[in-house]
Amino acid sequence: MGLPFIVLNYKTYLQGTGQGAVEIAKACKAVSEDSGIEIAVAPQLPDIYRVASEVELPVFSQHLDGIGAGSFTGHVFGKSIKDAGAVGTLINHSEKRLTLAEIEASLKAAKKFGLRSVICTNNVPTTAAAAALGPDYVAIEPPELIGSGIPVSKADPEVVSGSVEAVAKINSQVKVLCGAGISKGEDLRAALDLGSQGVLLASGIVKAADPKAALEDLIRLV
Ligand code: G3P
Repeated sequence: MGLPFIVLNYKTYLQGTGQGAVEIAKACKAVSEDSGIEIAVAPQLPDIYRVASEVELPVFSQHLDGIGAGSFTGHVFGKSIKDAGAVGTLINHSEKRLTLAEIEASLKAAKKFGLRSVICTNNVPTTAAAAALGPDYVAIEPPELIGSGIPVSKADPEVVSGSVEAVAKINSQVKVLCGAGISKGEDLRAALDLGSQGVLLASGIVKAADPKAALEDLIRLV
């Protein structure tokens, strides 16, 4: 298997807001360049332009609505995030739940604007459903482990391996990430050994005193 894909979700953590979003992206870029591992960041929407303008690395949106140009006050429009510099988007999240119809519409919008897509899911059946829609990635994250510091790859290995198996049967083009509580090198190693192709993570890096050192620890067993 090739090198993993790492997506860092900044959520609304203070450390990843405004100029902090840029500083963490710079740390990601440095570690990515040293290791050859692709690291993408998902800052808050108003920080996409700032991060993408100042740091050369893949920037994802945390959300995208399945709408077009027109009368859609408060929605996130694919062209807007693309023009701001995003190359991809998260779709759905345990902290930003969408209906299946909304997920499908968001994915369609992502494809229309050439954005890479990561659909987040919470268990094996929803992962299978998401894979059937044909995103680039699904990211399985049991909600009870999110932000817990307890890694999904150790606390619930079956949900990762079960997702990998389910996705392989439904659409082998879709890659599987996992997330929740991932922060250390052994957490990422265990995730890869379970068949995932990378991780989606947040607090362990964004809230770390030294995000660059935390990233270096994360990738040390790859
Ligand atoms: O989207 C990533 C996320 O929900 C996992 O959060 O803080 O457990 O790495 P965390």
